[in-house]
Amino acid sequence: MKTENKVIRDIKKIMSTEPDYWDFKENSERSHIHKLIKYPATMVPLMQSKLIELFIEHDKEIQLLLDPFMGSGTTIVEANSKGLNTIGIDINPFAYLITEVKLKLIDIDTLEEKTECLIKRITENEEINFNFWFYKVEKWFKPDIICELSLIKKSILEEKDVNYRRIMWIAFARTIQYSSNDRESTFKLHAKPKEDIEVFEVDVRSYFFKTAREIIGLFREYYDGFFCRDSSTNLYCGNSIEVLKKVVPDESVDIISTSPPYGDNATTVTYGQYSMLQLRWIPVEDIGIEINEGLLMNFSSLDRCSLGGTKYTKEDINRSEILQRSRVLNDIYLKLIASDEKKARKVVSFYIDYEQTLIELFRVIKWNKYLVFTVGNRKVDDEIVSLDQVTIELCKHLCGKCVYQFERNILNKRMPNKVSKLKNNKPVSSMKKETILIFIKSK
Ligand SMILES: C[S@@+](CC[C@H](N)C(=O)[O-])C[C@H]1O[C@@H](n2cnc3c(N)ncnc32)[C@H](O)[C@@H]1O
Repeated sequence: MKTENKVIRDIKKIMSTEPDYWDFKENSERSHIHKLIKYPATMVPLMQSKLIELFIEHDKEIQLLLDPFMGSGTTIVEANSKGLNTIGIDINPFAYLITEVKLKLIDIDTLEEKTECLIKRITENEEINFNFWFYKVEKWFKPDIICELSLIKKSILEEKDVNYRRIMWIAFARTIQYSSNDRESTFKLHAKPKEDIEVFEVDVRSYFFKTAREIIGLFREYYDGFFCRDSSTNLYCGNSIEVLKKVVPDESVDIISTSPPYGDNATTVTYGQYSMLQLRWIPVEDIGIEINEGLLMNFSSLDRCSLGGTKYTKEDINRSEILQRSRVLNDIYLKLIASDEKKARKVVSFYIDYEQTLIELFRVIKWNKYLVFTVGNRKVDDEIVSLDQVTIELCKHLCGKCVYQFERNILNKRMPNKVSKLKNNKPVSSMKKETILIFIKSK
C-alpha cells in the first residue's frame, strides 16, 4: 500500500472512533515552548504533531520538512521534536525572531543566571535619563511606561551574548504587548479610548520579571521532553517565493506542511500590524537578519509586503490567466466585480501571489512526496472564498494530486472576531472551520 493510502487509512480510522479528534477539544492548550509568546492564527501543535507522525511512521525516507509560512514556528518545532530537519520561512521579522528563539539551542542554567543578573541590573538601575523614542510612541504607551520599557531595553542591551538577548527580547515583547495602549480585541493596532488609557496602570517591571522567569520554565520542559539536538533547522526571513528561489534546490524536500494566510493581511489577519510595536522597540540588528528598509517603514508596510498586499490591475489578472486555471476563483471574481471591482481585484491579487508560491513549492518537493495545507475559507461580502477548492484547482496544474481532505472545527485559534465588511457595513464573522488538504506530487 502507498504511504499516502496508509496515512489516509489511519486518519479515517481515528475519525471513525472519535469524529471530533482533530478538534483537540480536550488538548487544545499550548504547552512547553509553544507557550513562549502569542502570535495570530497559530496552528494546533498536537494536530501538526499527529500529522507528521503519521507520515514518518509510514515513510522512513522523510528527513526534511519545509514550512514556507512558518509564523511562530508551531510546525517547525513539532517536526524538530520528531527528529526531522526543517526549513522555515516567514516575511515577518517578529515571527522569525520567535521561531529562531525556539529552535536555537541554549544552556538553561546560563539562561537562568543571565536572567537573574538582568533582573538585578534593572532593579538596581533606578535612574534613567534616556527615553527610547519612535514615531507615535506616546500614542501607544503612557509616559511612565515608556520610561520603564526604556530601562528594560537598556539593561537587556548590556547582555553580551545575542542568543540570550533574543530570549530576553521575547520576554520584553510580551511586556510590550501587555503594557501598550492597544485594545487587543483585533490584530489591527487600535488604541483604547482616552478615558481607559487614563486609568490604565501596569507594573511593567514585575510583569517583565515574571515573564522572563516563566520562559526559563518553558525551556526546561521543552528540552526535557521534546527538543531534538540532532536535527538541523534553517530559518529565513523574507518573501517565501524569493527565498525558495534563492536557497532551496529542485526536488529536495520530503514534506511540506503549512498554513498559508487566508487572504491579504489587511482584510484578514494583520500579522504585520500585530508585530509592529514590538519591532519598534526591539533593535532589528539583534534579530540577526537583513531587513529591507521598506518592510518596517510604517505600521502597514509589512502587511502590504505580505502575500496579496499588491493590488494587480485587470490587465495583470488577464495576463496571469489564473481565472482559467481556477473555476471557483473565476466564479467569485465575477460575483464580486459586478458590485465592487477593487474588492474583486484584491481577492484575485492574493491568489496570483499564492499561485507563485505554489509553483515554488511544487518545484522543491520531491516526486511522490507530500504537501499538507491547513486552510481556512474566508468570506468577502458574504461570499465564501474557498481557499481549499482554489488550492486544489491550482495545484492540479502543478502535478499536485489532492488525495484526501478533511475538516476540523477551529476552537482556540487566535482569530479576529470579525473579518472584512459587508457593503451595508455589517461585519462578517470569522471562520469556524478549517480544511486539511493532502497532496502528492505525481505525474
Ligand atoms: C497562518 S500564519 C502561519 C501561522 C503558523 N502556522 C503558526 O502556527 O504560527 C501565515 C504566515 O504567513 C506569513 N506570510 C504572509 N505572506 C508571506 C510571504 N509572502 N512570504 C512568507 N511569509 C508570509 C505571515 O507573516 C504569517 O506569519
